[in-house]
Amino acid sequence: MAGRLPLIVLTSPLPGDAHALAEGRARVRTLRPRGPLSEDALLRALKRADGAVTLLSHPVTARVLESCSNLKVVSNYAVGTDNVDLEAARRLGIRVTNTPDILTEATADLAWTLLLGAARRAPEGDRMMRAGRFRGWAPDLLLGMDLRGKLLGIVGMGRIGKAVARRAPAFGLKVAYTQRRRLLASEEAALGAAYMDLDELLSAADIVSLHCPLTPQTRHLLDDRRLRTMKPGAVLVNTSRGAVVDEAALVRRLREGGLGGAGLDVYEGEPELAPGLRELSNVFLLPHLGSAGAETRAEMARMAVADCLAVIEGREPAHPVG
Ligand code: DGY
Repeated sequence: MAGRLPLIVLTSPLPGDAHALAEGRARVRTLRPRGPLSEDALLRALKRADGAVTLLSHPVTARVLESCSNLKVVSNYAVGTDNVDLEAARRLGIRVTNTPDILTEATADLAWTLLLGAARRAPEGDRMMRAGRFRGWAPDLLLGMDLRGKLLGIVGMGRIGKAVARRAPAFGLKVAYTQRRRLLASEEAALGAAYMDLDELLSAADIVSLHCPLTPQTRHLLDDRRLRTMKPGAVLVNTSRGAVVDEAALVRRLREGGLGGAGLDVYEGEPELAPGLRELSNVFLLPHLGSAGAETRAEMARMAVADCLAVIEGREPAHPVG
């Protein structure tokens, strides 16, 4: 009997007990890859799957989707779905789901961790302490950016961008934002956020925080020219996707001293870093921890497995994409 149950492949162990949702409803196979899953490995793993729970690092390409003839649903364990060929999924009738909302506050908290750390040079201080280089309090030791009265520029005022903006008054920061569609005046007023076009925002903001999805339109949105538009001494924070920034150009800009610093959680060639990034002292580097709150990650797993089961059982998933 169990052999006739549909197969869900979890492409990684997930926090929490989400797999229990599938008990008696589907067989669950959990992969334990030692490194990033290649397209070929993913294709082999999903060959017989009815449903898949994939990670943001997995290349769910048209080739993978076309090769898995039983596949009905890909539940991406992330809010971003730039790793999934949505067009191919649509063409093949494969549903795609994601994990929005639940990770908004955790990701906004992490953006602020990077913002505060990069502005106040916390990672440099941490390295100094660990290296035994702290010689005692000094008036000019690791002077950073005072936040009060400065302008925080948010690129992409979606759920996470708004959650970042809501935290700004506590630190005395003013907020400007940019995105394709302007918010309603009432929303702008509630967030205390002024609309600017991208170049205007880049040249005015003391801190720029990126919260747009990665799409063909936003790839290298912050290219060499735009990075040079940023205010001298400004801090760049990126918790969206690495490729929204031309990372090589960012390294050049930081090396020249054009920017005050950067706080990065995501990388263009993740998990690799652009040459030179690691050597810069004024960058705060985290290993893609945006949603990494224990409860958040467990709930994301529950959402992904529940949506996988919904599609397999012929119901509408709660978090469809596209
Ligand atoms: C997502 O869910 O897309 C985030 O990048 C996770 O941190």
